[in-house]
Amino acid sequence: MNGTASPLRVAILISGRGSNMQALIDDCARPGSPARIDLVISNKPDAAGLARAGAAGIPTAVVPHRAVAERAAFEAEISAKLQAAGIQLICLAGFMRILGDEFVDAWRDRMINIHPSLLPAFKGLDTHARALAAGVRFHGCSVHFVRPEMDTGPIIAQAAVPVVATDTPDSLAARVLTAEHCIYPLALRWIAEGRVRVENERAVIDGATAPQQPLINPQP
Ligand code: GRF
Repeated sequence: MNGTASPLRVAILISGRGSNMQALIDDCARPGSPARIDLVISNKPDAAGLARAGAAGIPTAVVPHRAVAERAAFEAEISAKLQAAGIQLICLAGFMRILGDEFVDAWRDRMINIHPSLLPAFKGLDTHARALAAGVRFHGCSVHFVRPEMDTGPIIAQAAVPVVATDTPDSLAARVLTAEHCIYPLALRWIAEGRVRVENERAVIDGATAPQQPLINPQP
């Protein structure tokens, strides 16, 4: 996608603690990173992630959300800030507002999200409790391009984690979160290196290889 020597200019949209944002910031701080985090926007003024971004020296902005009827104004304000910063890619990282079709279409294939499940399973909220209730043996996380329908879009990377018999939603969430912090920076790096394209609504990664071993849980 990038294809030039200058780093891809990235904005991260958050609503909360910002641990995924931090993982992206840390990875982009490595020398020679193909991506640069130029802006962090929160819809909540008290989001803990804002302080973390500030501590990393990244410009931050707060765009308070409004009633659904005024969503267009909310999104116009975000768009103005993205445009002013010359942003080329948006990373949603725990951003808890639904974005309208017009905004999503304007950023088609230039906006990615991390979701705490192996999509297309467990779209929406409370994914860890729902995975436990369903009795699945593997759970995980997905990075995907954003489409208007919530938690859909071409999948760039997934990580599977085992579900353990003693898991609670919190213990499972913690295991998944560790995996999130691995795959989100990876996906961003691949995009910034120009290795990701969308073909027939599937993401294709140049030079990607898949693990060769099946994962079995419980172990035989
Ligand atoms: C993560 O679990 C992410 O998958 C989901 O929201 C959570 C955000 O956590 N979309 P954090 O703010 O990145 O710590």
